[in-house]
Amino acid sequence: MSIGRLAIVCLSAVIAAMSYAPQKEFGKAPSGETVELYTLTNSKGVEAAITNFGGIVVSLKVPDRNGKLGDVVLGFDALDGYLKGHPYFGAIIGRYGNRIAKGTFRLGGVEYTLARNNGENHLHGGIKGFDKVVWKAKRDGQRLELSYLSKDGEEGYPGNLAATVSYTLTDNNELRIDYSATTDKNTVVNLTNHSYFNLAGQGEGNILGHSLMIDADRFTPVDKGLIPTGELRNVEGTPFDFRKPHPIGERVDAKDEQLTLGNGYDHNFVLNGSAGSLRLAARVTEPRSGRVMEVLTTEPGVQFYIGNFLDGTIKGKGGKVYQRRYGFCLETQHFPDSPNKPNFPSVVLKPGSRYSTTTVYRFSTG
Ligand code: GLA
Repeated sequence: MSIGRLAIVCLSAVIAAMSYAPQKEFGKAPSGETVELYTLTNSKGVEAAITNFGGIVVSLKVPDRNGKLGDVVLGFDALDGYLKGHPYFGAIIGRYGNRIAKGTFRLGGVEYTLARNNGENHLHGGIKGFDKVVWKAKRDGQRLELSYLSKDGEEGYPGNLAATVSYTLTDNNELRIDYSATTDKNTVVNLTNHSYFNLAGQGEGNILGHSLMIDADRFTPVDKGLIPTGELRNVEGTPFDFRKPHPIGERVDAKDEQLTLGNGYDHNFVLNGSAGSLRLAARVTEPRSGRVMEVLTTEPGVQFYIGNFLDGTIKGKGGKVYQRRYGFCLETQHFPDSPNKPNFPSVVLKPGSRYSTTTVYRFSTG
């Protein structure tokens, strides 16, 4: 091989290594800690980039029906965007995902007071939830294990909670998330991921044309603060019936008290099947790209939120502007306000027990 040719071969190897950087510095957290961006790639070229700041899924590139990769999650190119404040793009949510009414609950005869960061209610773990902390990261090939010790009293919650969240990118084009936690005092836990998906590609219009199936016979209606009333309402005959696929936008403007209260869909669905076993919860299809996403979970519920609060003020990756309903979330979870709702499945974690849940986002085309 000539020296010139050898130089070209070496140069292309260096360029390839640079574009596939399995780990690179993403920036500095407000605490001064350096945070990293980890890129997991599977044998089919599917790629997930995740930072240990908030455990945020920064990008997720999956093929369309022609094999063309597209980034299907909303977010920012640099850490800076996430530090300026954002509606939980891609983040791990904890210690309690979704709302706790008035930021209070009783456990073992003691009343606990949490931050009220959503009107009079507590939302997504408080002012500095798990989405804004630096997680310890351990990477092993296509798996990234993140761990965080949430101290007794953090954001008002009782008990030291040792949490671990593992992201695994499988060769089946699945992003699998395993959540686990232990505590040294009775506490409440509800962990989820808050990725906003757009299967046409991030920033490529609204998601109203995506077709959605949710395997839920019931949902939890809310009051004006988006706190469940406690009722488990049948979806039959309502715009919340997604047992057969419907375009997300088909009934979103229907005259319906719950849609008015939620400003669109922003509700918890009671999943069919038994909680604790990994089962299909939802399937979303985007007709133009042919991309399909299935959500499997061990959780009893899923919050279906359609980016009603996005308003074009956020400029995301590649300069794309995120308008209202440019992304949807399927946040697998226990029901909102469970600590105050004795009829909802319990979210109490006791010393000696392990909190353990799994959610899989599986991608294919159709
Ligand atoms: C969740 C909530 C929504 C909203 C978003 C973040 O999905 O249910 O009401 O707070 O998070 O904007």
